[in-house]
Amino acid sequence: MSPTPTDVEHPVTNVDIIVSKGDEKGDITYANPIFFKLAGYTQAELLEKPHSIIRHPDMPKIIFKYLWDTIKSGKDVKAFVKNLCKDGGFYWVFAHVRVATNPDGSFRNYVSTRRGMSAGARAVIEPLYKELLAAEQSGGMDASLPILEAFLKDNGASLDTFNDAMQKIQNS
Ligand SMILES: Cc1cc2nc3c(=O)[nH]c(=O)nc-3n(C[C@H](O)[C@H](O)[C@H](O)COP(=O)(O)O)c2cc1C
Repeated sequence: MSPTPTDVEHPVTNVDIIVSKGDEKGDITYANPIFFKLAGYTQAELLEKPHSIIRHPDMPKIIFKYLWDTIKSGKDVKAFVKNLCKDGGFYWVFAHVRVATNPDGSFRNYVSTRRGMSAGARAVIEPLYKELLAAEQSGGMDASLPILEAFLKDNGASLDTFNDAMQKIQNS
């Protein structure tokens, strides 16, 4: 049973770097102390568990679809993520998910490095995600995809330049 969400925000300071690694399925194979501390779980509770254990119900599915489609194709992702803590609270991050390979080029793991989200980004992303989520509640990702594409277009971007658009928003 996942925790019942509350409106208690757990602050991410601008020195925090929250790191986790995942296998092909996205199960957590490593995380740094701040990851566990923020989420409010022990290592034993999170290791070998899917990253979706900290998925917040406010997160639109289309963002995770973009994430998985992109990392499965070997490319990095930059995306804003709201995560759910064990106590029902939440924290927002700007995540950079990379695909790490072994010296022979084979898959090693996925690595997510997260920093706090800027205030400028919060003002833009929170309403966007609300809109995407509302669309998904009635029409699924068929309904949220055109909204995401229109948002990117308004920002002079497209799905192909999603990461650059998100970085720009984080810097705003
Ligand atoms: C390295 C890595 C880090 C991830 N970090 C998060 C995260 O912090 N929060 C999250 O909700 N999903 C994260 N995900 C995505 C999850 O695997 C999952 O797709 C997402 O939570 C949506 O859940 P669902 O696929 O069950 O719908 C991460 C995936 C990878 C590979």
